[in-house]
Formats: sequence, C-alpha cells, structure tokens
Amino acid sequence: MSNRNLGRSVFGDPANTGKLLSMEDAQALLNEWVPNERLRLHMKQVAANMKAWALEKEGADELIARKWEQAGLLHDADWEKYPDAHCRVIIEELEKRNIDPDLIHCIASHGPSVFGVTPVSKMDKMIYAIDELSGFIHAVALIRPTRYEGLEVKSVLKRLKTPGFAAQVSREEIQEAVSAIDCSLEELIQFIIDHQKQVS
Ligand SMILES: [Fe+2]
Repeated sequence: MSNRNLGRSVFGDPANTGKLLSMEDAQALLNEWVPNERLRLHMKQVAANMKAWALEKEGADELIARKWEQAGLLHDADWEKYPDAHCRVIIEELEKRNIDPDLIHCIASHGPSVFGVTPVSKMDKMIYAIDELSGFIHAVALIRPTRYEGLEVKSVLKRLKTPGFAAQVSREEIQEAVSAIDCSLEELIQFIIDHQKQVS
C-alpha cells in the first residue's frame, strides 16, 4: 500500500489568491488527464454540487462559485494516471500554474485519512462531505431502472445501511464529514440528488 500522506498542510502561494483556471483550461486538463468517462462524470457531478452549494448556501459571487466548482472538477484529476501519487500530482500541477491556494487546499483535504490534511474552510468541509456521498448516490441511481427519476432520500439511506452495497465506501467517513457541516445527512443527500441528476 503506497503512502499518499501529503506530509504538509500549506499549499500554493497566498499571492495567487483569486487566480483560477479558465473553465476551458480546467476542462482541457480533465479531458487530457482523465480518459475514463465514468471518473470524469464523477468529477463533473462533484463540481456541480460544489458550485450549487456555494451559490445557494454560501451566497458566493461568481468567482468564489467558480473556485468551488474547479475544486470539484479537478479533485481526482490525477487518480487514473497516477493512482499511487494521487492527489500529489494534481496539487503540484496547480501550484505550478499559480492557482489560488484555497482551491489547492480544498483538493488536498478531500480525503483526510489518506492525505493527512484536515479540512479547514467551508469549501474543504463540503468537498469532503460531498465527494463520497455523490459517488454513492450515483451508484444507487445506476441500479434503478429509472435512474435518478423518483430517487428518494430513504432509498439512499437504506443502501447506506446495507454494508455489502458499494462496500468500498466508508460509512464512517461520510458520517464524520457530515457531522462537521451545518446540514443533516438527509438534507445533503437531497441536495446532491437535485444537483447532480442532470449532469452528464
Ligand atoms: Fe472523488
């Protein structure tokens, strides 16, 4: 088992605050680094949830919402090509491109137990809470004939209580992540269903 602990908690340069990729460049990076369509869809879903959360719950302006969106869009960008060095490679790439340190910290904190980085900002805490749950909800939708159509929170909760379903998803981490934000598990599941169902 490779050690993916990042061994640091400071990322990027404060002088780059507010510097983001253009959406075209972010999309191009994703297309180049992530040939796997399913993984790309996962990142687009997390991005849609993050952007919607920033706009609807945090009163974010357009620039801040784009920062949340890009963190979601790129958080697993190096997973397919560099699984042993995930998420070190994408972090170093964004540092090289002089991208906003908050965005880089957010990506670094999307898996505290793996990367050893504690979520600090609300953006950090939300990517941690949304990431696994988004993938889990998509897995629940995929086994239904009507997919997201008519998918209810209670069906997702039932699957969460079924240890054999998507067994690799840590229920403890989902609970831990949600307990750090001002939103119940039920509300977050509904929010994610509502905002990722149209992402393709
Ligand atoms: Fe992810």
